[in-house]
Amino acid sequence: DDPAADPFAVAANAAVQIAEKTGVQRHDIALTLGSGWAKAADLIGETTATIPATEIDGFSKPALEGHTGSLRSILLPNGKRALVIGARTHYYEGHGVRRVVHSVRTAAATGAKIMILTNGAGGIRETWNPGTPVLISDHINLTATSPLEGATFVDLTDLYSRRLRDLARTIDASLDDGVYCQFRGPNYETPAEVQMAKAMGGHIVGMSTALEAIAARQSGMEILGMSLITNLAAGIQKTPLSHEEVIDAGKAAEPVISALLAKIVAEL
Ligand code: HPA
Repeated sequence: DDPAADPFAVAANAAVQIAEKTGVQRHDIALTLGSGWAKAADLIGETTATIPATEIDGFSKPALEGHTGSLRSILLPNGKRALVIGARTHYYEGHGVRRVVHSVRTAAATGAKIMILTNGAGGIRETWNPGTPVLISDHINLTATSPLEGATFVDLTDLYSRRLRDLARTIDASLDDGVYCQFRGPNYETPAEVQMAKAMGGHIVGMSTALEAIAARQSGMEILGMSLITNLAAGIQKTPLSHEEVIDAGKAAEPVISALLAKIVAEL
């Protein structure tokens, strides 16, 4: 990427391309579906267009299995339009933080006022069995970076909308919430790092979402964050973590949590 390019101009351009390719001038809601959440795209409404992300400015090739690498325009039953971003760039891929938040800025440029950020993550609370969905109430950004550049002193109070968390609880009153800690990855955390996160007030550990949420707030969007607990975090769980286990837990939980998310989206 051209370091001199204005990231908001690239996002605005991407939004124009999305409008051209989908025939939809404006999207109301955007969703980034992390591991375990992808089926929600099939449940929230009728897909009217699917675009390979590589056809849109600023998107890179998918790095991971389970990340489909496409953008979908979906007509919701209530007539609203959702943009599903199945092409997340993780900070650990090493393409820089602008690339990480490009999808969020693009979503904002398409008109989306609500950004739903989902992920698969490790749980620090022992009562969270793999497969548990958790509402993100706040985050601790442990990446030592930010998507904001220059003198942009953005307030992050209530970053993850209380209104949207309350709304989610009208669908499932048993939903817990927790503080999400974004580590850089791609290695999983050490048990000592997990204890640090716990001591800092964290409940969930993962490698995405916080940087995206900051960019979404900068763009004025209301944010709903949800984690699927795919495993207990390192050291909380007594056995070593494996990527395969994480993927399998995501697949097993997918129908249930995707249906939950679809019900939440129907209320937006
Ligand atoms: N840590 C970080 N990221 C993750 C984990 C974890 O335990 N599980 C799934 N993604």
